[in-house]
Amino acid sequence: MPDFENGIKIVNLSFIYHDDNIMILKDINVEINSGEFVCILGQSGCGKSTLLRLLAGLEKPVTGEITVNSKPIKGASLDRGVVFQDYGLFPWLTAGENIKLALEQKFKNRPKNEYRERTLRALNQVGLNESVYNKLPKALSGGMKQRCAIAQAFAIEPSILLMDEPFGALDAVTRARLQDMLIELWKNQNPKKTIIFVTHDVDEAILLSNRIIVLGQSPSRIIHECYVPDTTREKQFEDLEMLKLRNELIRQINKDVASHTIL
Ligand SMILES: Nc1ncnc2c1ncn2[C@@H]1O[C@H](COP(=O)(O)OP(=O)(O)O)[C@@H](O)[C@H]1O
Ligand SMILES: [Mg+2]
Repeated sequence: MPDFENGIKIVNLSFIYHDDNIMILKDINVEINSGEFVCILGQSGCGKSTLLRLLAGLEKPVTGEITVNSKPIKGASLDRGVVFQDYGLFPWLTAGENIKLALEQKFKNRPKNEYRERTLRALNQVGLNESVYNKLPKALSGGMKQRCAIAQAFAIEPSILLMDEPFGALDAVTRARLQDMLIELWKNQNPKKTIIFVTHDVDEAILLSNRIIVLGQSPSRIIHECYVPDTTREKQFEDLEMLKLRNELIRQINKDVASHTIL
């Protein structure tokens, strides 16, 4: 049974952007156990990034609350790592300096050497070698930049990792390699990190997560939830059980889209 310590609880959450009166999220209620890998799935524009920003503490709920380990979220925290689609590295720092800076902020007053060693270990963990340490982000491919962003997020050892379509800008082959890498990183950690991963890609959600939460449109609320059996890249398109799950997810999304289409 997963542990609820460090669990996330979203209670009656609604959200409206200030200077706007359109409700973006309405009555969201979710409990996420520590160590779960949850995908938030939904059409573009439905409010996935908004929900992730609320979880990161970058926005505040209009009603309701989000708690981590029973404490309301108050602003950003180094205990919640965030990885965005656009890599999130400072362009004026090298890949290594980016990771080192995050380490210095999280783990204060350690010997200088330790930061460099931990940075190199973090780069190795995501399949990058020492030569990347001194390269500026602009000298790296999209896949390498995203590996660095993930290395940075894991290096600060947050208990929760929030990921917003981190592989959305990558080609199919690179995306597949990074998906496999992320699954390995998550599985090999003890205790496992809680990962909340936003995507609009049904197949990506099935491959990565052990639970999928589907958001509908305007205002966004949860329209479907399911648990996902452990699977592989091959099995997800061969097993009848997995195909049924996929069809059901697509059916639920289409039903919601149809209910918003003005004929
Ligand atoms: N800063 C903002 N101010 C006002 N409206 C916003 C802002 N950011 C996003 N929105 C609106 O909120 C809705 C949800 O956006 P977003 O959370 O980015 O969706 P998704 O990530 O699912 O594509 C969209 O209609 C978008 O236009
Ligand atoms: Mg988004």
